[in-house]
Amino acid sequence: MSQLKAWRAAIVHCIADPKDVGIDAAYEYFEDGILVVDGDKIHALGHAEQLLPNLPYNLSIEHHPDAIITPGFIDTHIHYPQTDMIGSYGEQLLTWLNTYTFPEESKFSDKAHARDVADRFLKELLRNGTTTALVFGTVHKVSVDAFFEASEVHNLRMICGKVMMDRNAPDYLTDTPESSYQESKELIDTWHNKGRLHYAITPRFAPTSSDEQLQLAGKLLSEYDDVYLHTHLSENKDECAWVQDLFPNSSNYLNVYDQHKLLSERSVFAHGIHLCDSEYHRLHETGSAISFCPTSNLFIGSGLFKLSKAEENNVNVGLGTDVGGGTSFSMLQTMNEAYKVIQLQNENLNPIKSLYLSTLGGAKALRLDDKIGNLAVGTEADFIILDKKATPLLDSRLALSKNIEESLFVFMTIGDDRAIQATYSAGKCVHKR
Ligand code: GUN
Ligand code: ZN
Repeated sequence: MSQLKAWRAAIVHCIADPKDVGIDAAYEYFEDGILVVDGDKIHALGHAEQLLPNLPYNLSIEHHPDAIITPGFIDTHIHYPQTDMIGSYGEQLLTWLNTYTFPEESKFSDKAHARDVADRFLKELLRNGTTTALVFGTVHKVSVDAFFEASEVHNLRMICGKVMMDRNAPDYLTDTPESSYQESKELIDTWHNKGRLHYAITPRFAPTSSDEQLQLAGKLLSEYDDVYLHTHLSENKDECAWVQDLFPNSSNYLNVYDQHKLLSERSVFAHGIHLCDSEYHRLHETGSAISFCPTSNLFIGSGLFKLSKAEENNVNVGLGTDVGGGTSFSMLQTMNEAYKVIQLQNENLNPIKSLYLSTLGGAKALRLDDKIGNLAVGTEADFIILDKKATPLLDSRLALSKNIEESLFVFMTIGDDRAIQATYSAGKCVHKR
């Protein structure tokens, strides 16, 4: 039984990386478009005048003359347990972790607390138009159970994992190589590929794992075809120096992970700011991805991500908020800060490239581009409705916009959660403003 529903509005989505095909060939735009959804999948997409005559006469069509429909956003790096510590003042990475992050994460040994935060976190993602995220839990197994249970309620495509951390952290927040292996395995067996959920093996970062723990993480990764590996890489200069001290036999930061067989097509490394050429090469060779987290990189004072270096080396890149190091759940605001990070390097970030990074590029980084990331027929109906009249300023500024690229750029510059009129996941409305 088909369950057709349709939306009429301006519709834009990416179909390729602008770096490969140029800006104009990287997206499709329907000024007066129709999106038809059958149950949880995209059934048709096209210009209204072409599609309308072929649709069932009794199909009701939701018309949004003042809106733009895009795919749901994909956040390739975020920490749900850091929801309540967003905006913690005055420190760079290593002191920020010790001062704010570790005490906050200790609360997630309590499953009821974890579930409360997971529910609020998911609500916040959906309010901001984010339909998929690659998410850190804490060291506590129950933190991941709570997150997946909360995600299941809304049938969201989400990826999460238990932090593995057996040294250089407070005792109350460490596991052991064996317990982290065993608990991660149990979580994979329970949650991985259950509905739309996936598991990510999640060593926090090289400094908080022993060689033994990283080796067991690599073993676990080799034991499953399609689980993810999610960690941090080369975020902060002091962190990089510490990694060299802790792992004197590695040639660079990435090489620590490489020596433990943690590089793969499903490996996502957050930040990757201070990389050398051979690290870019290895990321490319292994099909690994970087999550570019501009609000975090500016807020914690980590540095400027070199998108052009990643592009030259054909490294997959997605965009991440990195809340609570990052300062916003909004991928629109994340694109705003990404633009500035690139400006500071005397380059430009085209709005179509930003849209790509937050949708199809993220999906490619996560190897989910056959399912999500754009509005191709047959893919999952995860999409959002952006309201051009959401605020007086958006309304007046967008009235002067000459084309879709300019309109997207305005949304990315002055838009935030207020711009998200509705969010749909697998064809169902999961947020309405
Ligand atoms: N490196 C290790 N842990 C963290 C974390 O929680 N946030 C960020 N931004 N970087 C990290
Ligand atoms: Zn992070």
